[in-house]
Amino acid sequence: MKSRFVLSLLLVMAVLLTACQPAAAPATQAPATQASATQAPATQPTTEPAPATGGTLKIAILAPLSGGQPTFGISTRDGALLAIEEWNAKGGVLGMKIEAVVEDSQCEADPAVNAANKVVDQDKVHYIVGEVCSKASIPISEIATEKGILQISPTSTNVQVTKKVDGSTKPTVFRACFIDPFQGTVGAKFAVDNLKAKTAFVLFDQGNDYVRGLAEAFEESFTKLGGQVVGKETYTSQDTDFSAILAKVAEAKPDMIYLPDYYPIVNLVGAQAKEKGITVPMVGGDGWDSAELDVKAAENGYYTNHYSEQDTRPEVQDWVKNYGAKYSGAVPDALATLAYDATNLMLTAINSAGVDDPLAVAKALEGIKFDAVSGNITYDADHNPIKSAVIIQVKDGKKSWVATVSP
Ligand code: PHE
Repeated sequence: MKSRFVLSLLLVMAVLLTACQPAAAPATQAPATQASATQAPATQPTTEPAPATGGTLKIAILAPLSGGQPTFGISTRDGALLAIEEWNAKGGVLGMKIEAVVEDSQCEADPAVNAANKVVDQDKVHYIVGEVCSKASIPISEIATEKGILQISPTSTNVQVTKKVDGSTKPTVFRACFIDPFQGTVGAKFAVDNLKAKTAFVLFDQGNDYVRGLAEAFEESFTKLGGQVVGKETYTSQDTDFSAILAKVAEAKPDMIYLPDYYPIVNLVGAQAKEKGITVPMVGGDGWDSAELDVKAAENGYYTNHYSEQDTRPEVQDWVKNYGAKYSGAVPDALATLAYDATNLMLTAINSAGVDDPLAVAKALEGIKFDAVSGNITYDADHNPIKSAVIIQVKDGKKSWVATVSP
């Protein structure tokens, strides 16, 4: 694992050396090489869905359609619904038509718990795709564990989503994305090797599991790699004025700022930092991924993500076409893509289990090799896929894919 990671990082460096040539590559240019050596062709279950003979199988989609990060929920819902539509067009699953039950879980614990209880107790669903945000997925996973419901979070990256506090794995909880210890390491390696950062200032929301966990993962890796965290400040999700903590950043003169939060906070902090004349790059994580990321505020920044629509793999390009055709030319972000992947993964596992039984489907998932748009999925013992990350650069008002990093 370690040597493969080093090798992948070498590949990233090679890619970046190419991407950072003086007459900087046009923003839309894809990297010449992808670190895809580890992507062996996956075996897809060959069973075709049986023709519908009656009945319905319900899948709940729990996503933040309102609240602070609405683009996360809308993309997630649209990606998941497209997968369900395609399965229904092929005859459904296990002879049943698939019915989506969509609930707004707001990226927050309480609404997420209410939505999960509602779909399980009232709608009698056995399968949940969601939530997006770790802070909402963790409480949902407790309900799923207690009630034996199969949950796949498309995008929640915090370790505790699939793992209990005692360290054991939640038997019916999975995710379709990598985890934050990997994402934080990729960000730190990138900062040290490519941005040549020796010092970093970390800004994070103590009350958000994802933000706090990713900040910790970054700090640990950055320090191990010889970097120094010269300052750390916290804020809350309600804050709008960051001048006090940005004054501390200005004073510390770090080589970079690590800001692993969701796009609305990045927009505020980025704009206020620029007003203060702070020009060092900001680096963040998948939470930056939104059509509403303010590219002016995030200019000169980088973030780790699950997928880029600029990836030249034919699976990605076909998906971009397919999604655009369905949703009036919209470009699928990582949320839409992972929701599509998670839903397909779930339906494929139900189909190969051959029975509507969350425990049997969980067993099928444990042994699956699934060729997702966002990369191949096989599970480790903690129900985490071993998958690559991409690095996106915000430059001249555009978001460009600069590298793919394999574990
Ligand atoms: N990874 C984030 C979390 O766990 C959610 C997220 C994923 C947001 C992808 C944007 C894009 O909370």
